[in-house]
Amino acid sequence: MITKIIGTGSCLPSHVVSNDDLSKIMDTSDEWISSRTGIRERHLAKEETTAFMASESAKRALKDAGVDAKEIDLIIVGTITGDYVTPSTACEVQAQLGADKAVAFDVNAACSGFMFGLHTAHMYLQSGIYKTALIIGAETLSKIMDWNDRSTCVLFGDGAGAVVIRSYTDEEANENGMGGTGGLLAFSQGSDGAKGIVLACRDRVNNNPLISNPIEQGYLSMDGQEVYKFAVSTVPASIHEALSLSGLKAEDIKYFVLHQANVRIIQSVAKRLKVSEDRFPVNLDHCGNISAASVPILLDEMNQKGMLSRGDKIVMSGFGAGLTWGTTVIEW
Ligand code: UT7
Repeated sequence: MITKIIGTGSCLPSHVVSNDDLSKIMDTSDEWISSRTGIRERHLAKEETTAFMASESAKRALKDAGVDAKEIDLIIVGTITGDYVTPSTACEVQAQLGADKAVAFDVNAACSGFMFGLHTAHMYLQSGIYKTALIIGAETLSKIMDWNDRSTCVLFGDGAGAVVIRSYTDEEANENGMGGTGGLLAFSQGSDGAKGIVLACRDRVNNNPLISNPIEQGYLSMDGQEVYKFAVSTVPASIHEALSLSGLKAEDIKYFVLHQANVRIIQSVAKRLKVSEDRFPVNLDHCGNISAASVPILLDEMNQKGMLSRGDKIVMSGFGAGLTWGTTVIEW
């Protein structure tokens, strides 16, 4: 049995905000943001909601896969910025797509949310419970930013990316010309809740009538240097582990599709893996950091550009708040 990604899609809000635009409303500059992060602009939602962007990316992924919404058994959305505490974004997507038979739920693993969702869906498919799943990363991060904190609000953007995955028995894979191998080959994931506070956003606080000192609602806060140190050490280790489980080596991998947080993190990971930066595609220059959505949006951009061919070995890796990290090795 193999699990294949058979379609990708993405959706970005129409409103684009450049570093120069930000420098008009806060004390920052294109020079500071681009030299420290590689980010030049990001899309920020005005009318678009998380569920709208998630559903649009899903529709595009379904079209790319040639799959009808009624065939979807499972919808998992990685998000920390749903429109409602409940219902989940995945349930909203199910309704918007008319995917009546799908089981739908969200995963809260921040920038690793898409990877954790993909791994979870893969397990359902491998156990034979479900055959076809939609995994989405979708965020409206601009609503949890502290717009008075220039050290965080310039880094993030909004958007959604989706993939359709399907399981194939060896017989089905042969019939479809896929051979008996390929698809999702191996994964590695982990969490370190003890360090959660370095990148955190409080949910609604309890301000019921029994509380004498009401607390203000929170926004995203980050110790950037701690997150940076965590990323450059944990991501290469996670990639090494996933590669070792897949029986592949770094030189066998065509592309490393990393969470788009900072180009300097990506360069450092490339150096530590002794792999050319050319094999690390980047879209953070025009998207910024979109947490759970960044890996599937980048994968969709690559797919739309025709960069992916059957048989290519690809690593995808997400990392961030929790702290959490997740890496998958796939054969396209
Ligand atoms: O999904 C995972 C999410 N997070 C990350 O991946 C973040 C990882 N960390 C980073 O990418 C970097 O730590 C940052 C890009 C966030 C910050 O870079 P840094 O080199 O660690 O800068 P810093 O926080 O040490 O700040 C340096 C200076 C400070 O001024 P002083 O104290 O040296 O005078 C800041 O106040 O830069 C100042 N600063 C800014 N200046 C202009 C902070 N933000 C800005 C800004 N514009 N937007």
